[in-house]
Amino acid sequence: MKPFLVLNLLAALAAPVMMTAQSPETVPYRNPKLPVEERVTDLLGRMTLEEKVDMVSGGGWMESKANARLGIPALKMADGPVGVRNWYGPSAITMRADSPLPTVTSTAFPAGVALAASWDPELLREVGKTIGEEARALGRDMMLGPGVNIVRAPLAGRNFEMYGEDPYLSSRLVVGYIEGMQSEGIIATVKHFAANNQEHERQTIDAKIDERALREIYLPAFRAAVQEAHVWAVMSAYNKLNGHWCAENSWLLADVLKKEWGFRGLVVSDWLGTHSTAETANAGLDLEMPGADSIRRLRAAGVPQNPGDVGSRGAMLTPDKLLPLVQAGEVPAAVIDDKVQRILRVMVANGLFENQKPGGGEVDTPAQRAVARKAAAEGIVLLKNAGDLLPLLAEKIHSIAVIGPNAVVAATGGGGSSSVKTNHALSPLDAVRERAGAGIQVSYSQSLPEAAELAAKADVVLVFAGDSAKVESEGHDRESMDLPAGQNELIDAVVKANPHTVVVLNVGAPVTMPWVEQTPAVINAWFPGEDGGHAIADILFGDVNPSGKLPETFPRRIEDSASWGHYPGKDGVVYYAEGIYVGYRHFDKQNIDPLFCFGHGLSYTKFEYTDLKVSPNEVSLKVRNSGRRDGAEVVQLYIHPVAPGIDRPLKELKGFRRVDLRRGETAAVTFALDESSLAYFEPAKKTWVTEPGNYEVLVGSSSRDIRLKGTLKH
Ligand code: BGC
Repeated sequence: MKPFLVLNLLAALAAPVMMTAQSPETVPYRNPKLPVEERVTDLLGRMTLEEKVDMVSGGGWMESKANARLGIPALKMADGPVGVRNWYGPSAITMRADSPLPTVTSTAFPAGVALAASWDPELLREVGKTIGEEARALGRDMMLGPGVNIVRAPLAGRNFEMYGEDPYLSSRLVVGYIEGMQSEGIIATVKHFAANNQEHERQTIDAKIDERALREIYLPAFRAAVQEAHVWAVMSAYNKLNGHWCAENSWLLADVLKKEWGFRGLVVSDWLGTHSTAETANAGLDLEMPGADSIRRLRAAGVPQNPGDVGSRGAMLTPDKLLPLVQAGEVPAAVIDDKVQRILRVMVANGLFENQKPGGGEVDTPAQRAVARKAAAEGIVLLKNAGDLLPLLAEKIHSIAVIGPNAVVAATGGGGSSSVKTNHALSPLDAVRERAGAGIQVSYSQSLPEAAELAAKADVVLVFAGDSAKVESEGHDRESMDLPAGQNELIDAVVKANPHTVVVLNVGAPVTMPWVEQTPAVINAWFPGEDGGHAIADILFGDVNPSGKLPETFPRRIEDSASWGHYPGKDGVVYYAEGIYVGYRHFDKQNIDPLFCFGHGLSYTKFEYTDLKVSPNEVSLKVRNSGRRDGAEVVQLYIHPVAPGIDRPLKELKGFRRVDLRRGETAAVTFALDESSLAYFEPAKKTWVTEPGNYEVLVGSSSRDIRLKGTLKH
C-alpha cells in the first residue's frame, strides 16, 4: 500500500475516536459552559512536556504554533495599532503598505498621536472596537497594539504611534481602546514594555531610568492597561532597561507585571527581540515571536521586513534549545506550565476553541470608515487662528490657492509596522475641491516661484506641509525638528505673497515653525488616517468645530526639550537624566516658553469657566459655550502640591473631560479625586506616598491657560 493511502486509512479510522474524545460533552477543555480556569487546567493536564515546550515559540511570522493532536489552534496575529495591517499569504507575512504584492486592505485609522489629541476615551473605545471588528472579519485573533511608550524625545521615530507625553492621558486613552477592542473578542497587545522611547539603536540601546521616573512616567499606561482594561497580551520591548533586555528582564516581567500588577495574560516578545534561552524563559516571557522557520524563510527569500529588523536575534525558545534546559532543570517545568497556562487561558477566554475565525462581519464598511473620519476630525488641532481667518466662509470666498507637497498625497500614517493599506485615501486637495463646490475656484501648485504667484491672486491660501511616512517611521529617528527641506521657505514665500494663509501640517511630532509669527492660521492634522482629507475640509470650512488638544508640548527649538543633552545616548546607553521632568513638567520647571504647550488647541467658539468648587474628593465647575458656534471643549484639571517635601512638578494632569456644548449652553463638570491624584512614588520606600498638605487645583483649557484655581487640603 502506498504510504499516503496508509495515512489516509489511519486518519479515517482515528477520526471517529478523535471526535468522541474531543467532543464538547466529554472533554472539559472543549466545553464552553465550564469556567475558563477549569478548561485550561484540563487541557494542560493532557499535554506532554514536549508539547508544552513546543507552544512557547512561534509558528509562522504572525502565528503561534497549533497542536493538531489536541486541536489547539494557532493564535493568528496582525499589526496594529491603527487598523489591520496588510499581509500576504497564509502565514501572514506582513508587508509594507507600498508592497506591489496582492495584500489585504482595511480601514486606516488616524495615528495614535492623532487619536490622543481627541482627549476622548470614548472615541478610542469606538476605534478599538471597530478595528476589533475588522480583525475578526479577517480571521485574526490578536492585534499587536496599542502602543503607549511615552513621548520623551521629539525626534523619536515612533512618536506618531503613541499617545503623547503624559502618563495620565495615555492611561485613560489606552483603557478605552483596549476595552473596545477586547469587547469584540480580539486580544489586544499593549506595547512595547518598556521604555522603547527612541528608534535610534532600538535593538541594542540600554535605557537607564530611575525607579521614580519609571513608576510616575513610563509605566502607568501599561499598568492601567493591565489592571483596568485587563489587556490579554503585553509585548516586551527590544531595548534593555537598566542593563537587562526587556524580553528577559525579570524585574519588569515577573516582579512588576505579573506579581505586583497581577497580569494573567501572556507576554509576547517583540519580533526577533529575544537574546537568550534560560534567562528569557525564567524571566517571564511566555511566547516568542516569530517562528524560527519563518525567520529562516524570510531571510533566505530576502523579503523586506520591518525597518531595523536585522541581525541574528530571535528563535531562542525553540524546542531544540529549550527542552534540554528543562530536562536539565535549568528552566523549571513549572515555569513552562505557567507559560502554557497563560497562552491557553488567553485562547480559551477569547473563544479560540469555539470560533474558527473569520468570525463573520465585514471590513472597510461605510460605518467603519465613518469612525475613521470622525476620529480624524476630533484629533485635528487648531494651533493658531489670528483674526479668525478660519473657518472659511464658503459664501464669501471666490478663489482658493492650494499649495505644498502634502496637498496631493493622503498622509494617512507614519512608516513601519503600523502602516495600513487602504482603498479609500482621499488627498486634501480633492477633499477641498469637493467641499468648495463649483462656486469657488480651487487651483494648485506644488512649488515656487509659481506658488507665490498663485497665492497672491487667491482670496485664501492653504499650504499643506509636513512629514511623510519615510521621515517619521519605525526603525529610525528624525534627523531634526525642521520640516523637510524647502517647506519652511515655501511657507515663508507664500505668506509674504498673501497674508490670508492657512498652514495645514501632517506631522506626528513637533516641528519648528520659523514662519509662525507671520502666519495667521495653523492646523496640525497629524497623520489622520484614510479620511483625513475630508476631516481637514470639515475643519477648514467649519462643518466641524476643532476640539483637538496637543498631547505633547511643541518646543520652539530642540534645545528646549527635556531630553536635550541626554538623547540619543552614547556607547549604547541612554541616561534619562531628566527623570520625571518629561514634556510640560520640564517646561514648567525650567520656565521655558514652548511654541505650543501641552493641552493647547483652539476652537471656533469660546468657553467660559466659572463656579469652581473643591472638596477633598471632588472638583466641580461650570463651563459655558459663550461663543457663536456649537463646539466641544476639553476641560483639564492639574494638581500642584504647594509645599511638597520632595521635588515635584509644578503641575500634573489628573483629570480631563471632553464636553460638547451648543452655543449658549452650560455644563456642570465634575472630577473625582483619589489618592492617586496626589501621590508620588517614593523610591526609598518603594511605594506611593500621599503627603498631607495643601494642593492647588488648576482647571483650564490647556496646561498654560488656567482659568480657575482652588485649594484642596489633604
Ligand atoms: C515592532 C512591533 C510590531 C512587530 C511585528 C516590530 O518590529 O516593533 O511594534 O508589532 O514588529 O510587526
